[in-house]
Amino acid sequence: MNRTPWIISSVTIFAIVVLGPFVINTATGHLLKGVEGPNPTAAVSGDECLRSADEMRSHHMNYLHSVMDSMKHMWAAGIDMGEASIETDFSFDKCQECHPTRGDFCDRCHDFVGVAPKCWECHDYPQTAADL
Ligand code: HEC
Ligand code: HEC
Ligand code: HEC
Repeated sequence: MNRTPWIISSVTIFAIVVLGPFVINTATGHLLKGVEGPNPTAAVSGDECLRSADEMRSHHMNYLHSVMDSMKHMWAAGIDMGEASIETDFSFDKCQECHPTRGDFCDRCHDFVGVAPKCWECHDYPQTAADL
């Protein structure tokens, strides 16, 4: 009887079960702590973010998306933006007060994980200091 396939699949299962979590932790650890990998905090000024760093890391995209979604609802409802400006500290202008350029901060993470937000077609967020 040929036992090779059995041995190969055991090795594969061992690798996934035992090494998988380690590989995943290492990868996300680097990204999430911002210590190695993209190191986005190299391009930050100000004392504190809008929320805790953990909260921002995990949820900044949700906050930003929900503001844009609210805008779309208001447009759909025909509400004049001038009269009904949304009370929010989550605006791209706000981000730029402390994270002045996208390329030195936002994009470092986004490039690292392969996300390319389609927001910059309409929103102006300077990519490099030369664009400021
Ligand atoms: C087709 C054009 C368009 C695209 C694409 C777009 N937006 Fe907007 N967004 C607008 C307009 C117009 C406003 C209202 C005017 C303003 O305040 O800039 C707005 C307002 C906002 C605001 C509040 C004000 C500000 O300028 O920050 C946020 C936050 C926002 N959008 C987030 C997003 C996010 C996140 C994306 C990408 C996922 C996105 N938008 C993509 C057109 C766009
Ligand atoms: C008043 C200044 C300030 C504003 C405004 C601000 N930030 Fe921050 N942000 C910081 C600082 C300082 C840190 C680093 C915090 C830390 O490491 O404890 C940070 C950290 C972050 C992180 C985590 C980075 C990492 O290393 O993991 C993200 C993501 C982030 N900000 C996104 C945003 C977005 C998106 C906006 C706009 C909606 C924004 N910030 C607005 C100051 C600011
Ligand atoms: C610590 C790393 C990190 C930093 C710093 C960071 N982002 Fe992100 N961002 C991510 C990750 C990871 C995702 C993808 C999450 C997903 O796909 O679920 C994301 C997603 C987004 C999205 C939604 C993408 C989409 O296609 O709609 C927006 C908008 C966004 N980030 C804006 C910003 C802005 C603006 C900044 C800088 C002020 C910033 N981010 C800084 C890690 C980061």
